[in-house]
This record gives sequence, C-alpha cells and structure tokens, in this order.
Amino acid sequence: MAELMKGLKRDMYCAEAGKELVGREITVMGWVQRKREMGPFTFILLRDRTGIVQIVVDENSPDDVRSKTKEIRSEYVLAVKGTVNARTENNINRNMKTGEIEIAAAEIKILNSSATPPFQIEDSVNVSTELRLKYRYLDLRRPVVAKNIMLRHKTTQAVRNFLTKEGFIEIETPMLTKSTPEGARDYLVPSRVHPGSFYALPQSPQLFKQLLMVSGFDKYFQIVKCFRDEDLRADRQPEFTQIDMELSFVEAEDVMSVNERLIKHIFKEIKGIDLETPFMRMPWREAMDRFGSDKPDIRFGMELCDITELVKDTDFVVFRSAIEAGGTVRCIVAEGCGSFPRKKIDSLVDVAKTYGAKGLAWINVQEGGFKSTISKFFSEDKLSEIAEYTGAKAGDLILICADRNKVVWDALGALRLEIAERLGILSNNEYKFLWVTEFPLFEYSEEEQRYVAMHHPFTSPMDEDIDKLESEPESVRAKAYDMVLNGCELGGGSIRIHSEKIQNTMFRCLGFTAEDAQERFGFLLDAFKYGAPPHGGLAFGLDRLIMLMTGADSIRDVIAFPKVKDASCLLTDAPNVVDEKQLEELGIMLRPSEENEESN
Ligand code: AMO
Ligand code: AMP
Repeated sequence: MAELMKGLKRDMYCAEAGKELVGREITVMGWVQRKREMGPFTFILLRDRTGIVQIVVDENSPDDVRSKTKEIRSEYVLAVKGTVNARTENNINRNMKTGEIEIAAAEIKILNSSATPPFQIEDSVNVSTELRLKYRYLDLRRPVVAKNIMLRHKTTQAVRNFLTKEGFIEIETPMLTKSTPEGARDYLVPSRVHPGSFYALPQSPQLFKQLLMVSGFDKYFQIVKCFRDEDLRADRQPEFTQIDMELSFVEAEDVMSVNERLIKHIFKEIKGIDLETPFMRMPWREAMDRFGSDKPDIRFGMELCDITELVKDTDFVVFRSAIEAGGTVRCIVAEGCGSFPRKKIDSLVDVAKTYGAKGLAWINVQEGGFKSTISKFFSEDKLSEIAEYTGAKAGDLILICADRNKVVWDALGALRLEIAERLGILSNNEYKFLWVTEFPLFEYSEEEQRYVAMHHPFTSPMDEDIDKLESEPESVRAKAYDMVLNGCELGGGSIRIHSEKIQNTMFRCLGFTAEDAQERFGFLLDAFKYGAPPHGGLAFGLDRLIMLMTGADSIRDVIAFPKVKDASCLLTDAPNVVDEKQLEELGIMLRPSEENEESN
C-alpha cells in the first residue's frame, strides 16, 4: 500500500477545482460516485468530502488510463492526475459546484477497490434509515450528511473563538461521576474496585460548573457530552452535546446577553445571517396563554384565545364542569380550515386527545351561519359572539377545548403546530428566536405527590417571590430562562441559589430532608460554605442548534454516529451482552429476564 501513494501528492479537494485552474495539471483523490460510458467517452464522478468533480477519459487518454478505467467501479478509491479543461457552454452543469470544468485524466491510480455498497451513495438515496445507520460510515460519505457534520465543526470553532474572546475558560469535568440533578434517568457504570457501587454518567456538568465558580474560574465553558436515559424523539438522543457555561457575579440579563451575542456571532459566521438582538423576552405565563407552549413557535400566529367569560353561563355541562373545576375554555382559529373534511377534523380531535383533552368542540364559520358540534347548546347569537371575539371569519374553523389549564394549553398548543404543519406555512429559512423567562420554580408531580423543581433544585427564585416559597410554592417564579428557536428549546439556564438559607428552604419545599440533600449533593453544599459567588449559567443543546441551522429533520442527522429510538447503535450493535468474566469482576449477577421467568 505504501508503494501506491509513493510520489503522489494531492493538490486540492475535488470541489475546489474551478475555472481559474483551466489549463493546469492537478491531482485529486477520492471515491467514485459513478462511472458512465458514452460512446468514446468515459465520465467518472469523483467525490470527496467537499463535493464532486468530473474526470474524463477518451480516445486521447493514455492506454493504461483507458485500461484501468475499465476496472473502475462505484466507490473505488482513486488518485487522478489530469488537466483542468473548461466545459463547452452546452455541457456546463449549473447544479454542480465544479460544473464548469472537467479533468482530462493523464494518470489514474486505483488506490483501493470497494465492495458494492448496500445503497447508492447519493443525496437523494431512497433506503431505510436502519440501513443507512448500519452503514453509517458510507452514509457519512453522502454530501448532505457530510455537510451537516462539517457545519457542526465550524460552529464549535465559532463557539470556542467567541467565548475565549469573552474571557471564558474551557474546563473538562468528569464523565464517571455521581448522579446530577437534571431529572432524567441516569446511565450507570458499575465499579470493579468497589463492588456494588456505581458511577453515574453526567446528565450535565451542572454541579461541577457550580464548583468551578466556587474555585474562582469566573467564566467557564465546555462543549460536552451529556447522558440521559429517556424516551427518544427527533430532538432527543441518549447521549448529546451541550455548549455549557457558567458565570460569576452576574444577573439573568448578563447571561442572556452574552448568549444572544454568541448566537448572533454563530449565525453571522456560519450562515451569513444578521440576527437582530436583543431577542424578544416573554414570561412563561404569557407563552402558555398565547401559544399553549413554553417553547412557542412564533413564526406564525393562530394564538390561543380565552373564551371562558363568554361561555361561562352555559348549560353545556362539558364547559360548565371544566370552569367550575377551576379550568378554562380556550380556542384557536384555524384560518381557512373551515373546508377541512370531517375526517380531517376528527383527526385533529384525536391529536387533542393524546394531550389529555377529553374532547374538542369546533365551530365551522360559514357565510351567514355556523356548523358546529355545540350548536345544540349555544344560540346562533352566542356562536356569532364567539366568532367575533376570536376574530374568526367565514371559512375559518374554531377549535375549542375546555379543561384544566395544563390540558387546554397542551392540547391547543399541539393543535396549533399540527395545523401549521398541515398547512405547510412553516419555513426552515426563517429564524424566530425568543427568551422564555419567569418559569415557575416548581411543578407538582402527581406521580411523586410532591413539588419537584421545574429546572433543578439549585435554581434561584425571583426576589419578589421568595416570601411565597413555603406558603404558595405554585406561584413562585424562578430566575430561569430558555432560549427558543422556531418552537424548539435550544438552551436553558438560570441564576443559582448561593445562599444556604434559601437553599435549605428550597430543599424543604421539595420534600428533601437535610440528610437526603447531604447524601445527594453534600459536596456542593459543603463547597458553598466557603464563599460561593453569586452565579448563573446556561446550556445549549448543540445538536439541536445544528439541526435547526441545517434544516435537518432530526438531531440524528447532525450526529456522526447516532442511536435509534430504542437507544441502540445499529452500527456497533451496542448495547450488548458481556462476558461472564467481566460481570464476575464487577460482582454483578444478572437476574433472569421476565420472559425467561415466565417460560420457566
Ligand atoms: P437542560 O436540561 O435544559 O439544562 O439542557 C440544556 C439543553 O440541552 C438540550 N438537551 C438535549 N438535546 C438532545 N437530546 C437530549 N436528550 C437533550 N436533553 C437536553 C436542550 C436543552 O435546552 N444544567 C442545565 C443548564 C443550566 O442550568 O445551566 C441543563 O442541563 O437543547
Ligand atoms: P359528548 O357529550 O362527550 O359527546 O361531547 C359533545 C361535544 O362536546 C363533542 O362533540 C365535542 O365537540 C365537545 N366536547 C367534549 N369534551 C370537550 C372538551 N373537553 N372541550 C371542548 N369540547 C368538548
């Protein structure tokens, strides 16, 4: 093999060959995308990570080039030396970066052959995701995928440059550590040296970055893997990357400001887009009331409208009982959707039901009348009043949900997105950022029958609400902020508690005894005794940021070796069984699985 490369030197990447090189002899190396024979000509499309260039072999090519060309198949690895020629006007390919030129081969070396790949390596390949991920190394050869990975690299460079200039210091924190407080399930790693004991992989570097503030590093950042054993979705992977940071001597506005500038820098550097800052700030309650979501997509309207007052005196038992139970009646107006066939409306009702709604009423506003599921219970005048109040016009469809606020928000928030999706009104090229602020500090967990931290237990309450911590926990707002882009939570953070007294109250509210708190977070609480500066921070989901910047459908498309829905890796087959000996060393004995038990 060593011999093969002897004396060969690549001059440039395939897609770097352009018109300015016409007449020059260059050497390029890469993979054969395709070989086409047309009369006396053979065209080889040669690909590397930058793109594709066309190689031409014809009657004038040297004999050994012509004979070698016969052996060449897709995905063979070639070195090609040749002269750059301009293509004639009618042979120019405007869809190809190098479409104005081609390389007349003077020398071809086959550096390696290739088995026939399991799928054609092209942007528009039509095979299953499973097959692509099993052969991810081939999938990564596809220009669309490679482009995402390279944009990711550029972005992390831009992040490092920006934050370094701003005085941040990049510091690594342990992967083998103790459970962190982000609220998902941990991935555990058994210890050989301490049989029966486990490390937890970090869900985030949260506690360590707070310790670094106690150490005086002042501004920390890290581009870091985090691990969460949770159900996967298009924007969730079990291991993902955060751009994580923490700053001392700051308030929420300072953290938001530096992060706005960071995002502005990234968009300018990578996409050439000038974002307008500051981004809009919206208190959590307003986001819920207007958009039914704490990560509102503000690329379009269709805002929620509260009609509780309008319908509160009704006999309609569904609305009345919802209102009496402290709930509300709200609706959205789907513009122009009055013409949706019944089946389509029924499918919207089903969407609402998956979010806990018991039903969904609708009013089809027509020229001079209404068609509605609730016309039995409401007079024509009342329906008119609702239409007028919500701004609905003939041709529109009003979708109404009555329930507890949470159910109403979730159901209408989801319907809003579903309808926008169906109407195809969302553009990936529009970037609508905002900060959602003033999150509730707690949320009530029905499952655990106690308040849990909405963010994590170190999040500071707002100064105005501190007095209500124990008396009215549900109305306490946090100094927490999320950056939202096009309906996706891009990042989130908070100002932390640095007073021991407030931290203890917080633990009490969460139902932790002093011993529980000491057991779980003792090292942090101890550290806080030695002069913790006021501090706060934020973490972005890097994968989500890249997904939105590239317009990818899933964060899987911007991760080199992602996992699939059941958290397995189709390429390596992880997770997998291990040797009995390894388990023995770890002091682990496996319980027979339930299936085996049943069959025994
Ligand atoms: P949080 O839990 O909100 O905050 O996480 C920060 C950001 O990480 C991204 N993210 C994910 N991306 C892909 N897959 C996942 N499973 C996943 N989970 C989260 C999201 C999210 O906004 N320590 C705090 C930050 C802080 O307070 O400073 C934290 O981890 O984009
Ligand atoms: P039902 O009495 O369950 O058949 O409901 C009658 C109509 O009330 C349904 O067709 C829906 O239009 C509407 N409806 C039922 N539950 C709700 C709800 N929670 N919110 C809004 N409308 C509802």
